[in-house]
Amino acid sequence: MKFYLTTPIYYVNGKPHLGHAYTTVIGDVIARFKKIKGYDVFYLTGTDEHGGKIEKAARSMGKSPRELADEMVPHFKNLWKALNIEYDFFIRTTMDFHEKRVAEIFEELKRKGHIYKGSYSGWYCYNCEAYIPDDAEEVDGVKICPDCGGKGEFITEENYFFRLSAFRRPLLDFYKRNPDFVKPPFMMNKVVSFVEQGLRDLSITRTTINWGIRVPSDPKHVIYVWFDALFNYVTGLRDKFDKYWPADLHIIGKDIIIFHAVYWPAFLMALGYPLPRTVLSHGWWLVDRRKMSKHLGNVLDPHILIENFGSDAVRYFLLRETPIGQDGNFSHEGFIERYNADLANELGNIVSRTTAMAVKYFSGNLPAPSPALETDRRMENRWKEVEPEIERAFENYEFSKGLSLLWNYLRGINKYLVETEPWRSGVKSPGRTSRILLTCFKALHASLKFIIPVMPEAGGKIKRALSSPGEFSWDAYDEKRKIERLDGLFPRVDKAEFFKEEKDMEEKREEKTYVTIEDFFKMGLKVGKILEVKPAPNADKLYLLKVDMGDHERNLVAGLRQYYTPEELLGKKIVVVTNLKPARIRGHESQGMLLAADVDGKPYLLVVPEEVPPGAIVR
Ligand code: ME8
Ligand code: MG
Repeated sequence: MKFYLTTPIYYVNGKPHLGHAYTTVIGDVIARFKKIKGYDVFYLTGTDEHGGKIEKAARSMGKSPRELADEMVPHFKNLWKALNIEYDFFIRTTMDFHEKRVAEIFEELKRKGHIYKGSYSGWYCYNCEAYIPDDAEEVDGVKICPDCGGKGEFITEENYFFRLSAFRRPLLDFYKRNPDFVKPPFMMNKVVSFVEQGLRDLSITRTTINWGIRVPSDPKHVIYVWFDALFNYVTGLRDKFDKYWPADLHIIGKDIIIFHAVYWPAFLMALGYPLPRTVLSHGWWLVDRRKMSKHLGNVLDPHILIENFGSDAVRYFLLRETPIGQDGNFSHEGFIERYNADLANELGNIVSRTTAMAVKYFSGNLPAPSPALETDRRMENRWKEVEPEIERAFENYEFSKGLSLLWNYLRGINKYLVETEPWRSGVKSPGRTSRILLTCFKALHASLKFIIPVMPEAGGKIKRALSSPGEFSWDAYDEKRKIERLDGLFPRVDKAEFFKEEKDMEEKREEKTYVTIEDFFKMGLKVGKILEVKPAPNADKLYLLKVDMGDHERNLVAGLRQYYTPEELLGKKIVVVTNLKPARIRGHESQGMLLAADVDGKPYLLVVPEEVPPGAIVR
């Protein structure tokens, strides 16, 4: 009974956000659930560190790709820790054994004739690291990526190709034999129709990119980042490959379904490896109806939620709020409402009331319960009916449904308490009070099978407070277990209060970045007129400028050579910072700095109207 599951390996061009947290939490809940059921589980996650996207991102931050990756990895690991994620290995595609194995696999597929050399011209999206199809929309002669809406770049390359076209039939046969390969079913249908429309061979090397694994037999070629990345699922098992392969479950977002449900099984077929059992494709978290993405800059930092509500609440919300496969719209209001309704008012309330009574009346040792009445038996019967339904939902990765069934049941316990009023029978009728409390504890105990995977912290506390035995069933729990009081699992959050605090914090953050008017006037900003533009002899990005400042001339060194010709600069009136400490740049003294707007690293000179004389003060 082994179970091997994976998350995508995430790009290191930015910090993880709630979207990445979502996938990784789903994986952790499944891993914990399988462990409770006795499986030997291996859970793999990690980072995707090669390719043009990372190369570009690093360059724009003035770092090497390696530095960027080293900086980002701790952000992922810290978030997984804060969310109580128990993974078995964190793979980085820059690890030696991964690079070595991917290069070997490439050569093996080349030897077997699955990879051949050809040439490719077309539009490419660096953000998605994917080719843009011919029929994509075009704006001003530039193809627009249908996935992210970003601008494509036209590239022509000699490439190695993977003979994907040869796998159309084998893939369709495989889907037919394994109709549950992709979940949910509507995503399986999408994949099948994608393949039915025909497959083109896939370019799997780049010569325009440096940052990646080189083809050993032809080192000017770098292996395509997706070919490199997908094989993490094989290499990440290291010496445990024989034990755990094939993967039982790849969890992904729907943005990368074709890579996982078409290319990946084709690569594996070519290699002669057994295929993964299931690809689970989930929907997107949206903010204001748009996909949360680094690219759009509308990401939500999970740490803020964790700090305010705890990791359990974040995990619960992500799974309960939206069925896997559908998109969910995130709002703080919705989060707080669900937190209060489900966690504070139901689960937290039941636990604190029942354990408090057990301790108050019986010092935590329930006396012999009186025989069960109809109301008590009803709770037991209802549990025995609903439990297999919840189990089936969890087995099928329908957590929203499973949790909704479980919480319906928990609401029933609260009602049962209100009806049976154990605070009235109290110590006067110990047998009756014990029966009522025992019924609640049995229900809570049996629920732990589902609560612990989703909320390991709260689940663990409940387990200890009830001295629960290892087997999470109704019958495994009896009155001989010692009860401890457990309070404050999920303290209620006042919505108005929360938003007020958030607002105060935001104002404080803004205040910190204020400068005073005195600070501003310390800057010596003046208008200058460019008199002379010379390329710096020893630096191909720099110009040496002579600038008329009204009462004197100044020499400036400016990194404008890739963006402006000398003619475009000559005679222009610009803004100069005049009181910067002079600096030597590549052996030339720069007596100040000119101002430009920065658009993704590209400078746009701030130009002053013609009638302004040199030397005029800017403020
Ligand atoms: O695609 N909602 O990495 P990536 C839900 N390196 N999930 C989201 C999300 C959102 N708004 N945004 C991201 C890559 N995700 C490749 C994968 S695997 C061999 C290589 C999650 O950093 C979701 O799981 O762009 C999505 O598939 C993944 O992050 C993409 O992460
Ligand atoms: Mg992405």
